Amino acid sequence: MTRLLLPIIVMMLFTACSEQPSEQATASSSSTQAASKGEELYTKNCKVCHAQGINGAPILGNQKMWAPRASQDITTLVQHASEGFGLMPAKGGNTELTDDDLQLIIEFMLSALE
Ligand code: HEC
Repeated sequence: MTRLLLPIIVMMLFTACSEQPSEQATASSSSTQAASKGEELYTKNCKVCHAQGINGAPILGNQKMWAPRASQDITTLVQHASEGFGLMPAKGGNTELTDDDLQLIIEFMLSALE
């Protein structure tokens, strides 16, 4: 009986170990995932105005239009996007977006200036 059980136990140990590397790979790519989530949310909710500058919206990647805005704290930018600012509607019109979502989007918008 013990002879039969031993290979099974050895196999179980191997299976348990082989699961670890894949978990680590997922954890290390989480910051890249956050960046792509920001871009995805931007495309869905903000691009319609911020790609072309509708109503004077600062255009993605346009240094000149972003300079006075990017000099503000990210918290201020998130607050303006969340509450609305001039002709910028609150949350770009999507009330389901959280301030964390907005921060991801704005980080993506600011990264487009680099
Ligand atoms: C309906 C058009 C429209 C949409 C949609 C829109 N924006 Fe804007 N946004 C504007 C306009 C117009 C301004 C300039 C407002 C001003 O300075 O009067 C602006 C300005 C901003 C600013 C700069 C605020 C500041 O303090 O200078 C940020 C940040 C911003 N938008 C983020 C976003 C984000 C994030 C989204 C998507 C969730 C979004 N916008 C969607 C029109 C839009």
